[in-house]
Amino acid sequence: MFDFSGKTALITGAGSGIGRATAQYFLECGARVVLADINVAAVKDAALALDESGTRAGHCRYDAGDPDSAEATVRYTVDRFGSIDHLVLAAGIYEQQDFREMSDAQWHRMISVNLDGAFYISRRAVPHMKEGGAIVTIASVAAHQGGSYRHSHYGASKGGVLAFTRGLARDLAPHIRANAVAPGWIDTPMVAKTLETSGAAKIGAIPLKRVGQPREIATVVGFLCSDAASFVTGESIIAAGGAYMG
Ligand SMILES: NC(=O)c1ccc[n+]([C@@H]2O[C@H](COP(=O)([O-])OP(=O)(O)OC[C@H]3O[C@@H](n4cnc5c(N)ncnc54)[C@H](O)[C@@H]3O)[C@@H](O)[C@H]2O)c1
Repeated sequence: MFDFSGKTALITGAGSGIGRATAQYFLECGARVVLADINVAAVKDAALALDESGTRAGHCRYDAGDPDSAEATVRYTVDRFGSIDHLVLAAGIYEQQDFREMSDAQWHRMISVNLDGAFYISRRAVPHMKEGGAIVTIASVAAHQGGSYRHSHYGASKGGVLAFTRGLARDLAPHIRANAVAPGWIDTPMVAKTLETSGAAKIGAIPLKRVGQPREIATVVGFLCSDAASFVTGESIIAAGGAYMG
């Protein structure tokens, strides 16, 4: 367990899966946390469930593809807790479409939420981040292995997130570190249908012989935000049970 007392984390996509597990882990580590998500009911419930007193968890509606929403989310965080130490970008979508049937609108939606969204919120949060702060993006093994079937737009967005994270690491050094976590199959609502239909085959190809749990990504995010990773920046940690070894 890391000691994040006195630190503030802004976590996007915190209404579900990896983002929610990360919010829970950071609260357990003593941080103040803003849970941001387009599903405002989900973050409202999560904030209440994870911090009944409401003193260390705030929540707000946040639409990753909307720069004004990014601005409002950062403003809410700073008004509530003063500044930002950790920025964790877990909001994302994973819509299936074969390339041959993919519309321009489907392409743009994916890039807008997963990639533009990472820029919008980082650009607005960084001026409020303290010396020694850390940014963690949630990329995907798709970013390392060059996409996945029927998800060429998703692969492009995550490849972009990975390159963007490394750009951030260079531009923000030596003041703020920026790293990515690249999960493999993780048991969340995002991939529930895929795992239901082809989970056994996917698990068969994973050396650890199981899918991951959201908390197993949250703990890696915690490590990257902690002083234990004080010399780590521009890195991507693949957490995929060995399914991809880059
Ligand atoms: N689950 C996996 O196997 C897996 C693997 C690799 C990468 N990832 C990545 O991890 C991140 C978290 O995914 P998850 O598995 O926890 O999925 P999830 O669906 O459980 O959570 C994603 C969250 O993002 C929110 N969201 C969606 N669109 C948004 C928008 N426009 N603005 C703000 N919030 C929005 C959703 O409401 C949801 O709460 C995503 O970026 C995903 O691409 C997941």
